[in-house]
Amino acid sequence: GKVAVLTGGESAEREVSLMSGAGVLQALRSQGVDAHAFDPAERGLHELKSEGFARVFIALHGRHGEDGTVQGALELLGIPYTGSGVMASSIAVDKITTKRLWIADGLPTPRYLKLRRDELSRERVRSVPDELGLPVFVKPPHEGSSIGISKAVGYSDMMDAVQLAAQYDDEILCEECIVGWELTCPVLGEGDTAVALPVIRIEAVAGNYDYQNKYFTDTTQYHIGTLPAEQEAAIRATVLAAYRSLGCRGWGRADLMLRKSDGQVFLLEMNTSPGMTSHSLVPMSAKAAGISYEQLCLWLLAQARL
Ligand code: DAL
Ligand code: MG
Repeated sequence: GKVAVLTGGESAEREVSLMSGAGVLQALRSQGVDAHAFDPAERGLHELKSEGFARVFIALHGRHGEDGTVQGALELLGIPYTGSGVMASSIAVDKITTKRLWIADGLPTPRYLKLRRDELSRERVRSVPDELGLPVFVKPPHEGSSIGISKAVGYSDMMDAVQLAAQYDDEILCEECIVGWELTCPVLGEGDTAVALPVIRIEAVAGNYDYQNKYFTDTTQYHIGTLPAEQEAAIRATVLAAYRSLGCRGWGRADLMLRKSDGQVFLLEMNTSPGMTSHSLVPMSAKAAGISYEQLCLWLLAQARL
């Protein structure tokens, strides 16, 4: 039957989603799937039903796409969809709730503080580095692609950092900065049969691995298969435990830090609708594991369910 590739949407990551959706659409069509792009910012989801779509590939990112709302609507419409269900999606889209579950399950994640938008007094904000040290990462907990994130290196940066994050969210995540290497690791599947794909170490040559360097420059370097085998295995095991802890299914991608001083890994977040752009990490890791972009899309679609 007909397949809708949900793309675009109304989140701050709309532009990224349009790139992911274009890639997925082209790949599915090249494999003979009767796939069509569908932008929920332009059309109501109920049209999926009236137009006879049998399954949905979710290529939306962030709010109203990755956060359980679209998943809930598809449940009500009775149309099977790719990726995690309502609960895991809504948990994972919130970096703070995610960390709380990981901490409860004994999984490593950097220390943090939560600020509310209505408690941003100068005193409160300046007290954050007293507890977390410097630098501090300041993040809007519901955004992706590094949108609204800054690294406050001194007390004097804290207020700007917090105000930027507050433009996107009612709550602000202040997180201890782990000095070391940025890693990412995709997962495919569900529960006991889920598998972790090769870990990628990301080296943003020009500055941070920010929005610009994620999608629009070619200077970022990606290293696959360069960690010692034992460390690679340990990281994959941690990522699988993190994925199961949130109840994810279909696919996901954990972002982590590897601390330089002692080799300890820290989980930052789980993406339940990872990017599928030409610069994205899940396709890159899958390729290293011998899975082509087209095979990956077909496999994910085959896992679609209610
Ligand atoms: N939030 C972007 C799409 C990612 O994690 O790939
Ligand atoms: Mg993310």
